[in-house]
Parts: sequence; C-alpha cells; structure tokens
Amino acid sequence: MMTSKALATGPFLAFLLVACGGSQSGSSTPQVTETVVDAGAPDVAPPPLPALFIRLGGKENLAKIVDSLLANASADPELKKAFAKTTGAKAEHLKAMLVDQLCELSGGDCKYTGKTMRDAHKGMKISDSQWKAFLLDLDYALQENKIADADRAELAGLLGPLKEEMTEAPAIKK
Ligand code: HEM
Repeated sequence: MMTSKALATGPFLAFLLVACGGSQSGSSTPQVTETVVDAGAPDVAPPPLPALFIRLGGKENLAKIVDSLLANASADPELKKAFAKTTGAKAEHLKAMLVDQLCELSGGDCKYTGKTMRDAHKGMKISDSQWKAFLLDLDYALQENKIADADRAELAGLLGPLKEEMTEAPAIKK
C-alpha cells in the first residue's frame, strides 16, 4: 500500500533552456586585440535529456504503468464505480488506448487512434475529485515503476490541459 503523497497536478512542464551558441560574425579586423578572460563557464551546453517517453521506460514500461493505473483506479473508492463495467475486451481496449496516448504525449513514436477525450468521457460527469483521484492513481503507478519525481511532474503537466475536456465544468453564472 502506498503512502499518500502530494501529487503534482498542475502544469509542471520542465522547460529546458538550451543556450543557443550565437556566433558574432566578425565585421572587419579589429584594430585592438582584446584578451577576454574565460570565467570558467563550460563551453558546451549539457546534453538535452532524452524524450520523456524514454525516461518513462518506453512502450513496454508504459504498459506496466497503465496496468498499475487501472488496478489502482478499479480499487479506488472514488473511481471503482466508474470503471466497474470496463472489463474483458473493454479493459484491453482502454489499456491499449491509454498506452498509445501516453506514448504519443510523451514524445514516443505512437499514434493515438482512440476517441477524443470529450467523446470518450461524455456523460460521465467526471468530478474534480475523480479527476484528482485518477491522476493520483497514475502517480502511484509511476512511483511503483520507479519513475523520477521530475518525470512524474512532467507527465502530469502534459495531462493537465485535458481536464477541461473531460470534466465538463458547468459555466460560471454571472
Ligand atoms: C488524465 C485523465 C484521463 C485520461 C488520459 C483518460 C483516457 C482515456 C482513454 C484514452 C479512453 C479510451 C478512449 C477510447 O475508447 O477510444 C478512456 C475511456 C474511459 N475513461 Fe478515461 N481518462 C482519464 C480520466 C478518466 C476519469 C477520471 C474517469 C472516471 C471517473 C475515466 C473513465 C473512463 C471510462 C469509464 C472509459 C470508458 C471505458 C470503457 O469503454 O469501458 N477516465 N479514458
């Protein structure tokens, strides 16, 4: 049983600022030669991180993560009713769709071919607490599969914008 941990539900995209090696094109030959003392900054930018997809362990590991997610969701008091009828072939389909979706979102070479999030969740009236519970169950699944904190936050940040499509929040009355 996992202990409760704070979940990064907000958009925690880690942006890598890679310095562009801007080259100053020399105009004419300078009259005075100036010696610039190198303050010791590294000449080479650190190599960029591999795509999130690779950091998540590729498609094989995503399948394990989705398995854990669906097991967690089916046992979660907040979600188990919603997933009660998703068994057999339906569960297999949901799993395959989630793997493709997470693969594509994280930069893997996959194409998500399922329904739009709005269509897939139409009429479910997903509440804010169900949304949070699902992301928490995903976070537990990521932790179970030894995914680093920053990578978990990055994935949560990629999923955050889908919330609006799924939860059909009622319009605020003025
Ligand atoms: C980040 C959040 C979520 C993602 C990325 C997600 C993704 C998906 C995907 C890819 C599908 C399959 C679409 C297809 O069949 O083409 C699906 C279906 C479904 N989702 Fe979600 N979902 C999320 C949150 C939720 C939540 C919070 C609930 C429930 C409260 C939920 C309940 C369901 C159900 C019941 C189905 C249909 C399964 C079936 O066909 O039996 N989802 N979702």
